[in-house]
Amino acid sequence: MVSSVENDIAGRASGHGGRILELRGATKRFGGATALDNVDFDLMPGEILGLIGENGAGKSTLSKILSGVQRPDSGEMLLRGEIVRFRSAADAKAAGIGMIYQELTLMPALSVAENVFLGRQPRNAFGLVDWKRMRAEAKKQLADFGIDVDVTMPVKQLSLGNQR
Ligand SMILES: Nc1ncnc2c1ncn2[C@@H]1O[C@H](COP(=O)(O)OP(=O)(O)OP(=O)(O)O)[C@@H](O)[C@H]1O
Ligand SMILES: [Mg+2]
Repeated sequence: MVSSVENDIAGRASGHGGRILELRGATKRFGGATALDNVDFDLMPGEILGLIGENGAGKSTLSKILSGVQRPDSGEMLLRGEIVRFRSAADAKAAGIGMIYQELTLMPALSVAENVFLGRQPRNAFGLVDWKRMRAEAKKQLADFGIDVDVTMPVKQLSLGNQR
């Protein structure tokens, strides 16, 4: 059970101490099991934070709450000092919080571009998939992460690092 994940970092500038993401007193129970008990969590911009704990300690539960997959029973979450209540992973994603899972959920036989746009492919005026735009957009989005790959290539041909 994660009881208190706190980090103490100097240089708290603005009203919310420069923290980009905070959890205050988050509790989450599953039946009789308490996954999170009154957890406080702070994240500073640019900070890389590791979460360590034994099986069932609550790491996944904490990550799911931060990324909108689950909601805490009590406690609140603040993004740049503002209270947020995500109803879904899509809500969190729209606010800039994404989750990269250890287990990949890619379609190995589909192209890189198809995986980037899975389920939301750009369409043309005829309602057909706009392949040209999809490839160009996928290329651009990956370039933002410094990844230069042939987006028409099946994902299974990429290195594991690039797949992530
Ligand atoms: N959907 C669920 N339904 C019931 N109990 C759950 C559920 N999700 C988590 N739990 C319970 O909450 C506690 C925390 O689980 P969680 O998966 O967050 O731990 P973890 O630290 O990610 O563990 P692991 O290292 O095994 O991934 C455990 O007791 C677990 O059995
Ligand atoms: Mg886990």
